[in-house]
Amino acid sequence: MGIFSGLETIVETNHPLAAHTWYGLGGPADYFIRPATVQQLKEVVQRCRENKIHIFVMGFGSNLLVSDEGLHAAVIKLEADEFEHTNFEDDQIIVGAGVELSKLVLECVQKGLSGIEALTGIPGSVGGAVRMNAGGNFGDIGAVVESVTLMDNHGNVFEKKKPELIFDYRSTNITAKFILGARLQLASADPEQIMRTVKEAWISRKNTQPLNTRNCGCVFKNPRGVSAGALIDRAGLKGLQVGGAVVSEKHANFIIAEKGCKSRDVIRLMDVIKQRVKEQFDIELEPEIEIWK
Ligand code: EPU
Repeated sequence: MGIFSGLETIVETNHPLAAHTWYGLGGPADYFIRPATVQQLKEVVQRCRENKIHIFVMGFGSNLLVSDEGLHAAVIKLEADEFEHTNFEDDQIIVGAGVELSKLVLECVQKGLSGIEALTGIPGSVGGAVRMNAGGNFGDIGAVVESVTLMDNHGNVFEKKKPELIFDYRSTNITAKFILGARLQLASADPEQIMRTVKEAWISRKNTQPLNTRNCGCVFKNPRGVSAGALIDRAGLKGLQVGGAVVSEKHANFIIAEKGCKSRDVIRLMDVIKQRVKEQFDIELEPEIEIWK
């Protein structure tokens, strides 16, 4: 493995990506790389630059669709211990990008720290959640981010702080290739009260979303405050199927992957949905999920 010689322990070649995504779909990556340290990540980034290998950064793959053909690229996942630390400093947390968001929410509840309980049930890593400003009707993660530690595609590590950081609906002004970690500002509160909010968020999600299916959350962004799910529903598209991909009967902004589903089925179904919603409401739906091809 000339390109990554010396890094064989963290690099796998022709590695299937499906098992790393919630959808369980998609082909292999030429290189799948799990650096153990920031230094190793720098090394990997430099080798990729020198060899003109495109990099994709993977979180928990919960909002991701990988093409059936796979990727002639390097997919980098920050899941080693170095990226999974959580340090509490009074009412702030310094947290690694690889930490699971739902675990962090629970830890904060136990410690009586309020601020991210509305994110209950959102699957994903902290890095992925910050990157796309994950959230729902009751708030998003951007509201509590004080600063982020980033790495650019030259391997330089730097920090970006409030008020330089801008969080918008499902987007941020972070352009650096990697989010390594974040500092979150929470507030002390009664654990029982926080737990009540967590439970309410869970119940609401359970009642309105097809949780125990193969899906990747909401497929389209809500256009200007309208629910994309409500639009798709009003267009009569619940239950619509292309190959193994089906519009959920429970929430129309979810596409469920049934047995035998391919990524291309999901993409074709998304195209049909976009076209029908455009025809009926003259609204252009934009994907919320990332599609890697
Ligand atoms: N609605 C329908 N039919 C449907 C789905 C929804 O009529 O098939 C109606 C509901 O009855 C409700 C309204 O649309 O009146 C809003 O629905 P919901 O509360 O489910 O919220 P949403 O806007 O569809 C957003 C986020 C979800 C998040 C929920 C709850 C987006 C694209 N979606 O959905 O996020 O879980 O609020 O906080 O921003 C995700 O990002 O992956 C995701 C699922």
